[in-house]
Amino acid sequence: MKKYIIFSVIFFTVIAAIAVVGFKDKTPVTVNHTEQIKLPPPETTGGMPLMEALSKRQSSRTFGAQKLSDQTLSNLLWAGFGINRKDTGKRTAPTANDTRAMDIYVLMESGTYKYNAEENSLDMAADKDLRSFAGSQDFVATAPLNLVYVSDYSKFKSGSGKELYSGAHAGFIGENVYLFCTSFGLNTVIRAYVDKEKLAKELNLNENQAVVLSQTIGYPN
Ligand SMILES: Cc1cc2nc3c(=O)[nH]c(=O)nc-3n(C[C@H](O)[C@H](O)[C@H](O)COP(=O)(O)O)c2cc1C
Repeated sequence: MKKYIIFSVIFFTVIAAIAVVGFKDKTPVTVNHTEQIKLPPPETTGGMPLMEALSKRQSSRTFGAQKLSDQTLSNLLWAGFGINRKDTGKRTAPTANDTRAMDIYVLMESGTYKYNAEENSLDMAADKDLRSFAGSQDFVATAPLNLVYVSDYSKFKSGSGKELYSGAHAGFIGENVYLFCTSFGLNTVIRAYVDKEKLAKELNLNENQAVVLSQTIGYPN
């Protein structure tokens, strides 16, 4: 009887130990989502001659699954709306009264970020993949990258002209991105066909922020 009790104690202790180790291994992995992704410094030389890029610029609506490297993302965002004069912080695209009243939201499978030109970083805006909210055309949800141009009305001194200025800002930035894409073998299309209210809600925008346009980017299929 004594032997039986000792055997039972050892047996159940071993089973309990195995169970603890087993469960420990199965604990759900907490994904450590990065609040801020530091991008490598942008490479601001090279590329196709300007006249050749203008000759080849076009909209494309087919995208492969290949993701952009952090270096390419850094270069692309710098071309779009990065700082090209460090002494003043002025940008590669002009803005009315130098308001710089445009934020670029970066929507990828890994999460949703806001481009921070001063820090050359991606700051987390939403810990989820919001690409499917960036437009209703079928390629939008699966292309590796969608940029959303969000105007910040609070930066305009007067309310008049804010929509015109916002459209112009998105247009300048979008064209910079088009030329970068042409120059470096990426496909792109700028789009107005977006449910702006729904996207604004998902991006948690405030009443002074407005989605203007979106732009899909990726390598050819
Ligand atoms: C303000 C604006 C909105 C656009 N919206 C869309 C859109 O929602 N979906 C789309 O597929 N293309 C959109 N486009 C791309 C145009 O369809 C495209 O530029 C046009 O057909 C000319 O083709 P190209 O860019 O190759 O010269 C838009 C372009 C602009 C400038």
